[in-house]
Amino acid sequence: MSGPSRVERLPRVTGYESVRAAGRDFERYSSLHQGDEDVRAYRQLPLESDPPLHSALRAFLVPFFSKGSLAPFQQGIEADARELVAPLKLGELEIVRGVGLPLVVRTIARLLDRPSDIEEWVSWGPSVWGDHDGRRDGAALLAFLERAVDEGAAGTGGRLFNLLASTPIAGVLLTRDQQIGVGSLLLAGGRDTVMNLIAGIAWMVAAHPTHVAALRGDPAVRTAFIEETLRLTTPLGLMERIDRGESGGDPEQSPHVGLDFASANHDATIFTCPAELRLDRPAMSPHIAFGIGPHACVGAPLARMEAHAVLKALLAHSPNGWSVQEHSAQFRSVDGAQVPSSFQRLVIASP
Ligand code: HEM
Repeated sequence: MSGPSRVERLPRVTGYESVRAAGRDFERYSSLHQGDEDVRAYRQLPLESDPPLHSALRAFLVPFFSKGSLAPFQQGIEADARELVAPLKLGELEIVRGVGLPLVVRTIARLLDRPSDIEEWVSWGPSVWGDHDGRRDGAALLAFLERAVDEGAAGTGGRLFNLLASTPIAGVLLTRDQQIGVGSLLLAGGRDTVMNLIAGIAWMVAAHPTHVAALRGDPAVRTAFIEETLRLTTPLGLMERIDRGESGGDPEQSPHVGLDFASANHDATIFTCPAELRLDRPAMSPHIAFGIGPHACVGAPLARMEAHAVLKALLAHSPNGWSVQEHSAQFRSVDGAQVPSSFQRLVIASP
């Protein structure tokens, strides 16, 4: 079993107000670093960059995830969700590999216009860094990204990789490593986090059977439920920054810190009884599971679309809810309770 990662060992900015302020203050809290050094030697972009490169890259990516761009994908996502949860009618359903993984992979393949990669991405398992008896490995992801970038250069890489190769960003074409960095972030960010959200939703419904009737009948209740699951589980709980201090000092000489989004979302001064799933939380203090400030998640609308599709499909196939039969998951302690944050396996069963 591996111990805490490097970012988990860093000093942290914690609590709702402090994390929100730090997330917005990109001049003090720089993102110009490279994480996951055990599995990659390139920066994930635009995540690990500061303006002006960050702003230009983000402006390039945002249109892929706008409401208008995603609308044509909604029907396909909903059809996939219905097909993947259908085995629940027969009794049991494994959510992580059985629903979350194939759904997110099919969705990204559609978005990137690379349907022939689905099998390869599924073969990596629930983490893009693979499953090698607890050891992470970035080789499979890198081999895929190198191939996709080459294909992008030849104009055969699908929508995103073709544009990455040919679009000047802030006046210059991206380097090979930068294109790899963008592809890596979309695959890691768009795959693993959503899978954990989907498993988290299935878990939370099983834990709150009294909400099932309202969830079945009212899309607004489903929205509130998904947002509370995002807050409770916070699938991306900790992100690295370089604290350049008030005066914006040299990043090379400045300490690294972790922005603790999970602690913000579980801050009892903002969220009364933070370990409880409540559907009537005041809207004035929204969760920050998708981050805050200039690096806030570009893919949030897509993640929400996938989450809605699965929740609706599960309730259609098992209208009286379900129970958890088996699970393998990581938990965080919130106000004395154990709340799941990520899943390797989750088996549910209809009553
Ligand atoms: C439940 C699902 C998701 C969660 C919880 C999540 C969470 C986050 C968080 C917390 C950040 C901010 C990181 C920081 O401030 O350092 C972020 C950034 C980002 N996310 Fe997501 N994400 C999810 C899904 C997605 C999806 C589906 C995509 C795209 C396919 C995506 C793409 C990105 C990108 C590109 C950024 C970087 C934005 C920037 O640096 O400007 N995410 N995400």
